[in-house]
Amino acid sequence: MGSIFGHIFRVTSWGESHGKAIGGVIDGCPPHIFLSENDIQFDLDRRRPGQSLITTARQEEDKVEILSGVFEGKTTGTPISFIIWNKNQHSQDYASLKNLYRPQHADESYDLKYGIRDYRGGGRASARETAVRVAAGAIAKKMLSHFNIKTQIFAYTKQIQNLIVENPDVTVIEKNSVRAADLKIAKKMEKLILRTKEKNDSLGGIIEVQILDCPVGLGEPVFDKIKADFAKALLSVNAVLGFQYGAGFNVAHLKGSENNKNENGMYGGITNGRPIIMQIAVKPTSSIQLEKLDPTLPKGRHDPCLLPRAVPVIEAMCWLVIADHYLRQKSLKN
Ligand SMILES: Cc1cc2nc3c(=O)[nH]c(=O)nc-3n(C[C@H](O)[C@H](O)[C@H](O)COP(=O)(O)O)c2cc1C
Repeated sequence: MGSIFGHIFRVTSWGESHGKAIGGVIDGCPPHIFLSENDIQFDLDRRRPGQSLITTARQEEDKVEILSGVFEGKTTGTPISFIIWNKNQHSQDYASLKNLYRPQHADESYDLKYGIRDYRGGGRASARETAVRVAAGAIAKKMLSHFNIKTQIFAYTKQIQNLIVENPDVTVIEKNSVRAADLKIAKKMEKLILRTKEKNDSLGGIIEVQILDCPVGLGEPVFDKIKADFAKALLSVNAVLGFQYGAGFNVAHLKGSENNKNENGMYGGITNGRPIIMQIAVKPTSSIQLEKLDPTLPKGRHDPCLLPRAVPVIEAMCWLVIADHYLRQKSLKN
């Protein structure tokens, strides 16, 4: 019912924002791969709330525990199960949401579909679920490095309003709170986000993801083209409204002779080893000014801009797509 992703490297995600915990199960990860909680924690810390002034005030330490599938530090080939406890829920803050739908959140759709209202912070539709994706993505990355795959994935905040990173320097992404690939632009973005936060408003923007040295031959004709799987993976991330690669929607302005100069890494839906560069549009946080709907609702327990915390989620989804297609391609060859 939509909680499982992948064909061979299969991830099941479970849990709600204000339940006891969230977690995942990975079935299909090969044995003999060194794996520890530390391998996962680094990326989880990049997604964690409460990292800086421009992220939500919810304080979750997001410590992952591996429950199964690892023995003496190595994967066993059996399902890898992991759990992340919820600790800072403040569910009572959301009690008055019982009778309200937050604008552009999933409250109304879930109520229409299930007829059950988990009003505590969005339940399953909360972006808290994306921590599971980040943990699974870290395991996918570890699996690929075990097979000596040298792929690198860099996602970064490319644009917020008219502030655009034109010449990305991926080495500075983790050196600024916005996760932009340009320190000067990052400073301006940070100021803009703080000014917007003071006005109790929010901002959206564009994330770019660059995949370098992806193995060739990944992607299955015809419905499981790698571009289709990236699109699904990235559009499945909360608040993502748009996906493009190559010239994307700009093709409307290009002639063939111009577009042919734009090389990309996945013709025919199969990787060719060239860089894969994709852009994702992320909407401005919608759960703003809730106190205007009801004065008892919490103020400021949201990110004024989702992009810095969405960056590791975008990278994780790309690792999951590549890991799954890598194992599919490997099974075809053997
Ligand atoms: C890292 C991350 C954090 C998010 N935090 C919030 C938040 O604090 N408030 C909010 O309204 N939406 C937040 N969202 C977006 C919602 O989860 C999303 O808008 C909601 O599930 C509805 O889905 P849709 O926008 O994809 O239609 C966040 C998304 C991400 C990726």
